[in-house]
Amino acid sequence: MKSSDVDIHIIGSDLEQALAFLTAGQLVGIPTETVYGLAGNALNEAAVAEIFAVKKRPNFDPLIVHVANLGQIVDFVLDFPFAAQKLAQHFMPGPLTLLLPKKAIIPDLVTAGSDLVAIRVPAHPLTHALLEKLPFPLAAPSANPFGYISPTTAVHVVQQLGNSIPYVLDGGPCGVGVESTIVGFEGDQAIVYRKGGLPIEAIEAIIGPVQVREHSSSNPQAPGMLKSHYAPHTPFVLGDLDALITQHTQAKVGVISFQTSFSKIPPERQITLSPSGNFNEAAQHLFAAMRQLDAMGLDLILAEPLPEEDLGRAINDRLRRAAARA
Ligand code: TXA
Ligand code: MG
Repeated sequence: MKSSDVDIHIIGSDLEQALAFLTAGQLVGIPTETVYGLAGNALNEAAVAEIFAVKKRPNFDPLIVHVANLGQIVDFVLDFPFAAQKLAQHFMPGPLTLLLPKKAIIPDLVTAGSDLVAIRVPAHPLTHALLEKLPFPLAAPSANPFGYISPTTAVHVVQQLGNSIPYVLDGGPCGVGVESTIVGFEGDQAIVYRKGGLPIEAIEAIIGPVQVREHSSSNPQAPGMLKSHYAPHTPFVLGDLDALITQHTQAKVGVISFQTSFSKIPPERQITLSPSGNFNEAAQHLFAAMRQLDAMGLDLILAEPLPEEDLGRAINDRLRRAAARA
């Protein structure tokens, strides 16, 4: 869908407008450094229920709570382990979500009945200003229909949720481009449940080795989430691109590569995430690339894994989930 096909009148950068809707219990699309969120008053059960309804998200999949600054976290959690505090001091605001024991003020609906709340301080000036002015935190999942690719521009949000929400605050394209890294704790042992915009190497440099718990479809409570997620509608295949292109010469394919381009594929059907091999740039472009090719009516999208390091890990996780069709 082109941006000209959607009602862009609900997009703006008017903080007062966003504040008014949120205060009235309505939902607003908000920019963060990772992806756009579908935000509502985290302490208002009706607003939270509306988030699940608009996203068509199952109630067992809990929401992240967004606060203005590190100091506010203690208002909503019962315990803040030392390792979590160290991470918070180094990486908040930023693409880090901490799973911590919740206070009763956080509705059970937000956490899907869990005693733990996922909480983060987004690093985006507009949303920071919004949170500073609001007397409540914002529950915000990524602003996409459940199971689809997360939005990294305001237009992406309107294309899919524009009929269901009154306003999208436009903060430009997201700088990080993949969702936050989710970290929980068993004592002082940190466990990464979702690889994301904060690389594991950066976390380990501060608190030492972490465990990584991959997703489990038998336990959807685990924040690694369901296996098929971030999925375009077009069949998506991950592997060695030279081999895949040779194998699929009869099909109309699109290609997402890390650095290289391919002479056998028309240029308009291939997207190179970062010609210079920069992980940050690749992450920034990933979801928009998946959306762009998904809108072209192709038979197949082909993609290659990146090196399994730094943000390459989060990118590969999203690519694998896109390729995993339940
Ligand atoms: O970067 C991000 O984290 C973005 C932006 C908008 O902040 N948000 C985001 O939210 O990615 P969402 O809802 O798309 O993904 C959050 C994941 C959920 O899949 C859920 O499984 C996990 O976090 N989660 C949230 N609260 C949890 C909890 N209390 N316990 C376990 N997992 C939780
Ligand atoms: Mg999401």
